[in-house]
Amino acid sequence: MLLRSFLTRIVPPVVTLVGVTANPLASGTCTLTASGSDDAPAFLKAAADPSCSTVTIPQSTTLNIASRLNMTGLANKHINLEGTVRFSPDLPYWEGNAFSFPFQESFTFWLLGGSNIMLDGGGTLDGAGQAWYDAFAKNSSLSRPIILTVYQATDITVQNIKMINSPMWFNLVNEGKRVTYRNITISAATTSKNPAKNTDGWDTYRSDNVIIADSNIDNGDDCVSFKPNSTNILVSNLSCNGSHGISVGSLGQYAGEYDIVENVTATNIRMSNAQNGARIKAWAGKNVGSGIVKNITFEGFVETNVDNPVIIDQCYMTSDSDCAKDPSNTYIQDVWFNNISGTSSGKEKAVVVDLSCSPDGRCSNVNVNGITLSPPSKYGAASYSCQNVELSGNDAANFGTCKTTG
Ligand SMILES: *[C@@H]1O[C@H](CO)[C@@H](O)[C@H](O)[C@H]1NC(C)=O
Ligand SMILES: *[C@@H]1O[C@H](CO)[C@@H](O)[C@H](O)[C@H]1NC(C)=O
Ligand SMILES: *[C@@H]1O[C@H](CO)[C@@H](O)[C@H](O)[C@H]1NC(C)=O
Ligand SMILES: *[C@@H]1O[C@H](CO)[C@@H](O)[C@H](O)[C@H]1NC(C)=O
Ligand SMILES: *[C@@H]1O[C@H](CO)[C@@H](O)[C@H](O)[C@H]1NC(C)=O
Ligand SMILES: *[C@@H]1O[C@H](CO)[C@@H](O)[C@H](O)[C@H]1NC(C)=O
Ligand SMILES: *[C@@H]1O[C@H](CO)[C@@H](O)[C@H](O)[C@H]1NC(C)=O
Ligand SMILES: *[C@@H]1O[C@H](CO)[C@@H](O)[C@H](O)[C@H]1NC(C)=O
Ligand SMILES: *[C@@H]1O[C@H](CO)[C@@H](O)[C@H](O)[C@H]1NC(C)=O
Repeated sequence: MLLRSFLTRIVPPVVTLVGVTANPLASGTCTLTASGSDDAPAFLKAAADPSCSTVTIPQSTTLNIASRLNMTGLANKHINLEGTVRFSPDLPYWEGNAFSFPFQESFTFWLLGGSNIMLDGGGTLDGAGQAWYDAFAKNSSLSRPIILTVYQATDITVQNIKMINSPMWFNLVNEGKRVTYRNITISAATTSKNPAKNTDGWDTYRSDNVIIADSNIDNGDDCVSFKPNSTNILVSNLSCNGSHGISVGSLGQYAGEYDIVENVTATNIRMSNAQNGARIKAWAGKNVGSGIVKNITFEGFVETNVDNPVIIDQCYMTSDSDCAKDPSNTYIQDVWFNNISGTSSGKEKAVVVDLSCSPDGRCSNVNVNGITLSPPSKYGAASYSCQNVELSGNDAANFGTCKTTG
């Protein structure tokens, strides 16, 4: 891989940058220290300096980031995060200054982009979310930032990092190509009565060839969510706790837009205490968009205490009557639910699989193989709920009414 050969070429002279002071003759590794005030300018300066091929934040160092990080257009850069990068919970500053994207009105502290980038080192990204969770409980129009947005990046790896207490989503991959995350530990934990809302682990958007692997996530919204135009994605070996599941979508939200999610595999997933396990969600109703969900495989899920272990909702955020009048224009085809075991929570009583599609063939070629989910014993045998979908696969025959359309 490109990055590997680049990394082996890195030779120290180690130069220490204190505060905003950069040595113009520095080459190789540049080391940052905490300045006692905003460390964002020094971090940006080192990242932009071509002679700092490695930027190290040492183990004992916590960088205080009190202004936004536009770290785009990097080339051949290793950010060696051994210590901590903490985003100052200065809500009034971020409300006016976080980067914003029109898609789902999202905001971010940090844009990281360019080509051939490695972010690793065993350290921590700290979103200092508690102040945000408490403020959001009082004011739901706060614009809460995503910790890390990998933006217009190709060949980037983020690995061996902890991420804690994001105000909102932890990771957004926006317009990326060949983006890999490995061995990431995510934890959103509130210490007050106010929940850590919308703390998705990852969202992918307009991105191709993304790998998310070998990670542990404890959060309060989607574990991983594939948003519009996510293609060729592999998610493997994740332990997700307390989340809303591995979700395709939501899609087809915006009138006039066409959303594609194609070639996604999610495999070897442990899903505990969650609202959903394997999920596909698309909008219906008036004034929404359209799209296609194609070739999606969910396999090797072990679920514990999950409300909806397997779910397709093609009437997402739409009432039954509006959905009947204006069915979804986001079509779903070629979906595999394979080798999915474990228990539901009983929230849906005996129902462990719920496939609610819009009519007239809007869901096609949906396959079920090796589904051994059970509800809590007081609800008796598992039951399966379907609308407008004709199932294929070894288990289709066990799914009762789900065999037929209507
Ligand atoms: C980030 O910096 C790049 C390069 O200087 C610039 O082109 C871009 O407009 C900046 N992005 C934002 C959102 O400020
Ligand atoms: C809630 O937050 C929004 C966005 O920052 C702000 O415009 C509004 O004034 C806040 N409302 C209150 C009651 O603080
Ligand atoms: C995974 O990341 C942690 C830091 O979060 C590090 O201590 C550990 O060594 C990494 N594991 C591997 C296999 O690299
Ligand atoms: C799965 O990920 C964990 C880290 O969360 C790692 O320790 C383990 O080796 C990985 N398993 C496989 C099969 O790669
Ligand atoms: C998992 O989630 C449950 C419920 O949200 C929580 O009580 C528990 O502490 C979490 N466990 C871990 C290991 O994060
Ligand atoms: C998704 O890709 C298709 C095909 O390139 C394009 O027409 C559409 O506008 C894109 N949608 C979004 C939300 O980017
Ligand atoms: C999906 O994968 C197939 C087979 O590799 C490939 O031909 C197709 O172009 C991929 N689709 C997208 C949108 O990348
Ligand atoms: C379906 O997607 C997988 C990746 O998830 C890919 O390997 C396979 O080639 C795709 N199949 C088709 C027919 O596009
Ligand atoms: C089913 O999934 C589990 C958990 O990911 C895995 O250990 C097992 O090997 C899978 N079985 C088959 C037949 O693929």
